Amino acid sequence: MILIQFTGLSGSGKTTLAENVHHLLVTEGYKAEVIDGDVYRKTICKDLGFSKQDRCENIRRLFNVARDFVEADTIVLMSVINPYESLREELRVHKFVRTVFLDCSIENLINRDSKGLYKRALLPDHDSSKINNFTGISDVFEIPSRADLVIKTDFDTVSLSTDKLYNFIIQNLHNCS
Ligand code: ADX
Repeated sequence: MILIQFTGLSGSGKTTLAENVHHLLVTEGYKAEVIDGDVYRKTICKDLGFSKQDRCENIRRLFNVARDFVEADTIVLMSVINPYESLREELRVHKFVRTVFLDCSIENLINRDSKGLYKRALLPDHDSSKINNFTGISDVFEIPSRADLVIKTDFDTVSLSTDKLYNFIIQNLHNCS
């Protein structure tokens, strides 16, 4: 089976793509699961913030959940920012892991800003609504140097991006287990 570790900025399309591909996979009869950072940060990761240490712990915990699903013959889509090359490499040592980078320019993300988070990240320091350590604005996002698939979500439509990821998963299923 296969575990897709996404990497990409907030708003780059991880959740949308994971849900679309999950739907297609289940429709085709595959067992599949989405592990979304936003969801798990309310449950088993609710004690964690956005320091480097906490983000790494977040990814490690989610990977442990993901591995159990993979062992149960389930395709896993791990929808997280996953900003550090070292952590992505740590997961890549497992044969069933593939890295998918959702590449979208920061300018487009700031313009789109569907959750209003970039606006809050860009507020002046004294503003009480400001979000600190926001990835891509005031915290690091390391561009992956060895992604297995790159999807440019500011150029490709949602439908094309979904097809690209779905086809990638089907092509890679046999050489992952
Ligand atoms: S990760 O860095 O540890 O991989 P994760 O994917 O779980 O992050 O969570 C990212 C989500 O948390 C974002 O989509 C956004 O909704 C929210 N968030 C809140 N604060 C921050 C922040 N400082 N940086 C990035 N995302 C944040």
